[in-house]
Amino acid sequence: MQEASHQLRCVGCSAVIPPDAVEKDFRCVDCGELLEVEYPSWSAAGVPIPGPRRTPNPGALRWLWQERLQSRLPIDQSGVWRFRELLPILLEPEKAVTLREGNTPLYRFLQCAEELGMEQLYAKHQGMNPTGSFKDTGMTAALSQARERGFQWVACASTGNTSAAMAAYASRARMNSLVLLPEGKISWSKLSQALDYGAVTCQLNTDFDGCVRVLAEVVRRAPVYLLNSVNPYRLEGQKTPALEIAEEFDWQVPDHLIVPGGNLANSSALGKGFLEMKHLGLSSKVPKISVVQAEGANPLYLSLLQHNGREIQPVQANTRATAIRIGNPASWRKAARIIQQTGGYCEQVSEAEIALAKAEIGQEGIGCEPASAVTLAGLKKFVHQGKIHRDESVVLLLTGHTLKDSAFTIDFHQGTLLRDEETVGLERQISAKRRSTLSLEASSDAVLRILEAAIQA
Ligand code: F0G
Repeated sequence: MQEASHQLRCVGCSAVIPPDAVEKDFRCVDCGELLEVEYPSWSAAGVPIPGPRRTPNPGALRWLWQERLQSRLPIDQSGVWRFRELLPILLEPEKAVTLREGNTPLYRFLQCAEELGMEQLYAKHQGMNPTGSFKDTGMTAALSQARERGFQWVACASTGNTSAAMAAYASRARMNSLVLLPEGKISWSKLSQALDYGAVTCQLNTDFDGCVRVLAEVVRRAPVYLLNSVNPYRLEGQKTPALEIAEEFDWQVPDHLIVPGGNLANSSALGKGFLEMKHLGLSSKVPKISVVQAEGANPLYLSLLQHNGREIQPVQANTRATAIRIGNPASWRKAARIIQQTGGYCEQVSEAEIALAKAEIGQEGIGCEPASAVTLAGLKKFVHQGKIHRDESVVLLLTGHTLKDSAFTIDFHQGTLLRDEETVGLERQISAKRRSTLSLEASSDAVLRILEAAIQA
């Protein structure tokens, strides 16, 4: 049995909280801020901790993690638990609830790179996880923690992907799950996943931020374990794509990582992964981490612009990228901190820029859900602003699978997604990307006429 050698630290006042004493809402009792998992024996915060230092050996770890790719053990086949030396949060890691998440592909983007005059553009596709989003990597960690602590019920408020992941992992663990969703504001595919995986699924007549408020009360009044991203154990799982990226780069790291921003936990989770790797001598630098938000759900962008990330004003969120339709993000302080600490940037992108970028990612043969496409739309702005140089290496973090929101894609190609005033300046590029379905008589002549026209075009 492995020792679960972790503690929790408040990101506001630095108070240390033993795992058994954590509040149900995962907030500091003194200052109300969020918590972070840390490992005293190799504290990445740089705080000297008395007692023996048991920093893992980098070379041995790299070898061990590679070896596990050949193993048939479920936890070795998981791209999260393969790195379990860097997330010792469970007493019995071999009992982790896993769907073989992680180990997602890093694709090279040639066409998008060419358009931008860049050489090294990559996409880390977290949509290639078991339930189709990056949430699976966090869910395996936090839900395993919930089970080890004896909970029967888990719950989340969600824009769709967290609920899909939670419902799946809860069912695998034979636990029950409660999902609160903003009615009419999430995609059908995500709603269908929660139902299929067996969650108690409630649509509330409010937005995501309203669902979060209701859930906070539910958690106070009932014995349910909160699985929103304020749960710091989720972020331990979500830091592992950083390890996979470094591994793919032969333990060098790219110059930039660009992440979509919604509730704003994932950017800091990945940042934590990179900072810990550097601290442990696994890699020599940390990429600049940048966050991109939709214009209609841009509180972090405004906070950094107007208050240097010291305070945030919630906004009334509205974007067709429903996954990131969040006006009052819980983890904004963590996101602001990681952007500033790594020298990254924050941008906002319009609805038309998101739709165009999504179509361009589709044409790489990859695809992604709308919220993920903000990364490419943001990259274009960073390059034009001279913040990212054409000779630098960039990884876009694609967070969700293209089939998560096919209604968006179909509306785009049918020309019903965007209003004319939204496409101003991008009309030509958007129409070049749009494809129509053709209704033909069932004859080879009819099809061949179309083929000939396509060949000549
Ligand atoms: N991309 C996708 C596809 C998402 O589902 C989310 C968040 C994000 C990006 C933003 O990540 O919140 O860590 O900044 N979805 C949550 C949910 C809120 O409920 O599924 P973040």
